[in-house]
Amino acid sequence: MTMSPVKKRPRWLASPSPAVLAAVGVVTALAVGLGVRTVGAAPIGVSGTLAGTGARVQARSNWDGIYTEAQARRGEPLYETSCAECHGSDLAGLEMAPGLLGGEFAWNWNGLTMGDLFERVRVSMPQADPRSVSRADKADILAYLLAANGFPAGDAELGSRTSALRGVSFLAEQP
Ligand code: HEC
Repeated sequence: MTMSPVKKRPRWLASPSPAVLAAVGVVTALAVGLGVRTVGAAPIGVSGTLAGTGARVQARSNWDGIYTEAQARRGEPLYETSCAECHGSDLAGLEMAPGLLGGEFAWNWNGLTMGDLFERVRVSMPQADPRSVSRADKADILAYLLAANGFPAGDAELGSRTSALRGVSFLAEQP
């Protein structure tokens, strides 16, 4: 399995490794060559998919109804079981873990993609055993997070394919 070597986003945002910088450089060059608008600081793992998703990179966002209400309802008890002990039942965070709610959370992810958020949860959460929760359940949990953060529900469920999720931007403010 291909796992990102870096699990903690704040750490690699603060000091990206030379390999990351090189990868970002390549992606940026590719994207510029193709006339693609890049998303903020290009994160790990974008290489190869950004060019592939081409002009759709910023076509959709978390403001476009990218999950269903039923999915978010499924995600709530899953969150409670696997995430709440650290992030709080109200998502506001506890001493040990940051909140997953409101401006601080949204601005942390602003300009990245749903794929980045999904991968972050997929490879590193729940912290003690990321494999204890399936991809599908993690998509449902993300749907719950989106609902709790006030982003609108829609007609189609949020998928669990990272490549597709990378085509959906995460924006703190409604465009
Ligand atoms: C054992 C405690 C623990 C559990 C359980 C846990 N987390 Fe975390 N989580 C953390 C800590 C600590 C951080 C911040 C430091 C780090 O990245 O490791 C974090 C960071 C995050 C972040 C990044 C927040 C940001 O704004 O950058 C997300 C998203 C997240 N967790 C989601 C989840 C989800 C979803 C679950 C359940 C599937 C979960 N976590 C379960 C401890 C936990």
